[in-house]
Amino acid sequence: MLPVAGFGTRVLPATKSIPKEMLPVFDRPAIQYVVDEALAAGIEHIVFVTGRNKSAIEDYFDRAYELEDSLRLKGKTSLVAELEAGLRPAGSMSFVRQQGALGLGHAVWCARDVIGDEPFAVMLPDMLMMAQPSCLTQMVEAYNEVGGNLIAVEPTDTPELYGVITPESRDGRLIKMKGMVEKPKRDEAPSNLFISGRYILQPEIFDLLASQQAGAGGEIQLTDSMARLMQTQAFHALEYVGRTYDCGDKIGYLRATVAFALTNDEFGEKAAATLRAALADKG
Ligand code: G1P
Repeated sequence: MLPVAGFGTRVLPATKSIPKEMLPVFDRPAIQYVVDEALAAGIEHIVFVTGRNKSAIEDYFDRAYELEDSLRLKGKTSLVAELEAGLRPAGSMSFVRQQGALGLGHAVWCARDVIGDEPFAVMLPDMLMMAQPSCLTQMVEAYNEVGGNLIAVEPTDTPELYGVITPESRDGRLIKMKGMVEKPKRDEAPSNLFISGRYILQPEIFDLLASQQAGAGGEIQLTDSMARLMQTQAFHALEYVGRTYDCGDKIGYLRATVAFALTNDEFGEKAAATLRAALADKG
């Protein structure tokens, strides 16, 4: 389940008429990295919880008939093949509307009928993970051992911007938790481990979300329902191997773009040379 209803106010004006998930991170829309991560982890069906003015996301994952036809007429068959290869099997993506910006917890709850009575993953498309194997793949491996619910965490210097966990004990990278809190005050953060935007959850979360009161920022928070679920079900955090790029603001976006350009197989070296030259020019 990918929540994609947000306005992207922190990257305006770029997001005035384009969904933030469609902004390119080097050579592809940000959302493509997240979908690729899901597919690499064996996810079979993707539910987008979307909102008004987000139809570009649906179009991106559909056939672009007119474009393909025009490419074919010009003999650009390799581009057509590339577009074809990017298509998912018919029926393997669903789009559900979140009618108002009531919070992440509400967005997840909006997907309840499509997801049904099965464990599922939540992936926040603002957060791009650079990891090998992918973050969700590492989580699925850990989930196959411990079951229950699992979230990815990573150390941060700015816990006040995120959900933060209270660790209890640790076995390698797997952490048992006592609790979690959404956007704590900086000096009250229970640890430096933040919830980095990848979750594997049991369907019982939906019942809790149905009755969840608004929390931090006046929004229905997924973190608050997870903290309740933790009282009755196994819940672990995984400090995954890799790095999270938060594309939620302009500099985070730039950081992600640079990182993904530098590690791109085809363009990495050229990107490095270009950046070095740009810095030298600036003096
Ligand atoms: C959400 C979650 C938070 C998590 C963060 C990661 O917050 O509520 O727990 O740490 O995503 O980006 P948001 O960024 O929507 O404010």
